[in-house]
Order: sequence, then C-alpha cells, then structure tokens
Amino acid sequence: MEKLSVPILLGTNRKDRQSEHVARWLLQVMQKRDDLETTLFDVREFDLPNDDYGTVIKDLFPKWRDAIIGADGLVIIAPEYNHGYPGILKTVLDLLLKEYIHKAVALVGVSAGPWGGTKVVEQLVCVVRELGLTVTFTDLNFAKVQDVFDEHGNIKGPEQYEKRAKSFLDELVWMSSALRWGRANLK
Ligand SMILES: Cc1cc2nc3c(=O)[nH]c(=O)nc-3n(C[C@H](O)[C@H](O)[C@H](O)COP(=O)(O)O)c2cc1C
Repeated sequence: MEKLSVPILLGTNRKDRQSEHVARWLLQVMQKRDDLETTLFDVREFDLPNDDYGTVIKDLFPKWRDAIIGADGLVIIAPEYNHGYPGILKTVLDLLLKEYIHKAVALVGVSAGPWGGTKVVEQLVCVVRELGLTVTFTDLNFAKVQDVFDEHGNIKGPEQYEKRAKSFLDELVWMSSALRWGRANLK
C-alpha cells in the first residue's frame, strides 16, 4: 500500500513548552514506520495576522494548506490549558475547512497534571468534528509531562510510550486507510 500522509501539528507556541518534546519523539516514532510519512508543523511558525481569521487567510499558509490537501490523516498535539486548547491551535485549525473533510485525526493530550490532557482532548473532539475530520478512539496521553523527558528532551522509560504509540498509530492507520478508500470510491 502507498504510504499514508499524516502530518503532525504541534499546538502551542509557549516558550519552554514540554509539548515540543512529545512532538519530536512522536515524529521519530512515526518516521520509523513503513506505512506512514509525516511532517511536523509547529503553530509557532504561522505568522498569523492579528486582524483576520479563518479560511479567508488560508492562502497565506500554502505549505500547511497543501499538506492537508494531500493528507490522509492528522495528528494534533494539544497541551491542556485551563481544561481547553491553546487559542493559537484553534486559530491554525480554523485556516482550513473543506480540506479536512473525510480525513482521520488522532489526538495527543499533554498536561502537567495527572490526567494526561483528557479534558483538552474531549474539547478538541467537538472542534475536529465540525471541521469534517473523523476522530480515532485511541488517544495518546502524556500526564505529568515534566517528568516524562530528561533535560535533553529524551524520553525516560520509552517502552511504555512506544507500546501506547503503536496502538494509537495502528488505529490511525486503519481509519486513514478506510477513509482514503472512501474518498476514492464513494460519492
Ligand atoms: C495557561 C495555562 C493553563 C494550564 N492549565 C492546565 C490545566 O488545566 N491542567 C493541567 O494539567 N495543566 C495545565 N497547565 C500546564 C500545562 O499542561 C503544562 O505546561 C504542560 O507542560 C503542557 O503544556 P506546554 O506544552 O505548554 O508545556 C496549564 C498551563 C498554562 C500555560
């Protein structure tokens, strides 16, 4: 099977963000698989205007637009901020609409607290549904993320996370493959 195209979106621009460690680790995990190809997008790299919003400005970001047009799925890495998602993540997601339809999305929750961003994941489900994305049921959660990586950003005790990432990605591959078939074969 032709590789599935599944970009990653890192959803915070906060300096000292822990979510960047998660993104870089997951990028490596995904790059080792032979059924996926991926690119890391970082909300920090979007030079967003402060006087406009939504799909009217999508052509300012052709790399992101074209990646989603060509994508089969998407991974969103979302840190939990007051039980919700960072505003900049929503602003970047709002740049596109029809480009997402009938593609898969898998959600990664990241938090300092013990629940691994479960609340931000639930909030994002409402948003991605409106975007036309189909969300998988196998989230990946990083609780107490400040304890998960060392000072160089290397994951401590990778085995448990590799196992969970495999389930997370296997389900994303299933959903992305099914939707790719659907887009090609169904009206
Ligand atoms: C504005 C703000 C609100 C936050 N709210 C929560 C929260 O509701 N629950 C939680 O577990 N951690 C919360 N945190 C901590 C983040 O989850 C923590 O910074 C974690 O490292 C992931 O975010 P990061 O990628 O910005 O580091 C909050 C952090 C910020 C900056």
